[in-house]
Amino acid sequence: MNADDLKRLNAASSGLEAPFAVVDLAAMRANAADMARRAAGKPIRLASKSVRCRALIDETLALDGFRGLLAFTLPEALWLVECQASDDIVVAYPTADRAALAKLASQQAAAMAITVMVDSTDHIDLIARAAATVSDPHPLNVAIDIDAGYQAFGGKLRAGARRSPIRTPEQAAALAKAIVARPRLRLAGMMAYEGQIAGVGDNPPGKPAYAKVIQAMQARSAVELAIRRAAIVAAIGEVAPLDFVNGGGTGSIATTAAEPAVTEIGAGSGLYQPGLFDAYRAFRGRPAALFALPVVRRPGPGVVTVLGGGYLASGPADAARLPRPYLPAGLRLDKNEGAGEVQTPLLGPAADGLRVGDLVWFRHAKAGELCERFNELHLIDGDAIARTVPTYRGEGKAFL
Ligand SMILES: Cc1ncc(COP(=O)(O)O)c(C=O)c1O
Repeated sequence: MNADDLKRLNAASSGLEAPFAVVDLAAMRANAADMARRAAGKPIRLASKSVRCRALIDETLALDGFRGLLAFTLPEALWLVECQASDDIVVAYPTADRAALAKLASQQAAAMAITVMVDSTDHIDLIARAAATVSDPHPLNVAIDIDAGYQAFGGKLRAGARRSPIRTPEQAAALAKAIVARPRLRLAGMMAYEGQIAGVGDNPPGKPAYAKVIQAMQARSAVELAIRRAAIVAAIGEVAPLDFVNGGGTGSIATTAAEPAVTEIGAGSGLYQPGLFDAYRAFRGRPAALFALPVVRRPGPGVVTVLGGGYLASGPADAARLPRPYLPAGLRLDKNEGAGEVQTPLLGPAADGLRVGDLVWFRHAKAGELCERFNELHLIDGDAIARTVPTYRGEGKAFL
């Protein structure tokens, strides 16, 4: 299978000069279908940070099971509305961008399409002040972000992202009341992202004892969160009706979707199936986003050197954040050099079969960050390039 894939990828890209990045459309579509299956009828709001390519956002939103976008910055969301990518965009992270907020309040189409995220009255005040700089501002949609992290031993043990300070139904209801008390704010929804389940694989390679710890934490966290999330939704519902309750991510689609209080899932990484998402027992996606680097020299037996490669993923700095040599099979990074800024040595038996000019195919550890390294994605259909499309970066848009 790997050897067939290698032949197919090399054939499809024979006219290209490396480095370049591709997305295998068949693999991406299969991944999308499997994500939708796991969501069991609940729509997936597409996390744009994990795609960072408008053509593939369009392609995905046209598929069954996907609805709306989960954007990562407000300027991005405003741009996506201008491009008519979607009229239903939730910005997943709070913004302190006053100019973008003022723009949002001044444009009716954007104000109707976009929901911004808040977790404190500081956010509400900032939004209100920015909107007040505009004459006749449009009402703005806001959603409340809830801390979905797991805590044990009175908070001594924590798992999950440190984001929102809102954790209890009482805190959520108080913030909801503060929102509805503002004349030009509308409470549109709620989001609670359980990164400790959705973004942490429960079967990390070569770490069986750690895997057991993660599995135990995730099982407890899922039970705790289901109860707490339902109570928070009920408490906010007493204040105002919610259009949506967003939860989860690629690694938790099935468990999050099973919670009656959740109306939609936020996910995107699973489309590209980057390296970190191989560490889940519950699903197995097909590597869809790849980049190819050329062999530029052969330092000696059992080693080749490729051009570039140092495309590390964000997050805690460890080896799991490095890109992975994928094809031909049988290559690994050199621990002393990792993935280099301009050159990356690769060790292993497959090295001796490679000549200067041959390609080595890699996978990024995370999904959308790959697109910050390449202006274009070549979309492969079968053994040919169907089209070449710009990434966000290729459109001159580096939001983060
Ligand atoms: C708020 C939020 N929702 C969902 C996700 C899941 O996205 P993905 O499935 O693309 O990893 C993330 C990822 O960080 C997130 O921050």
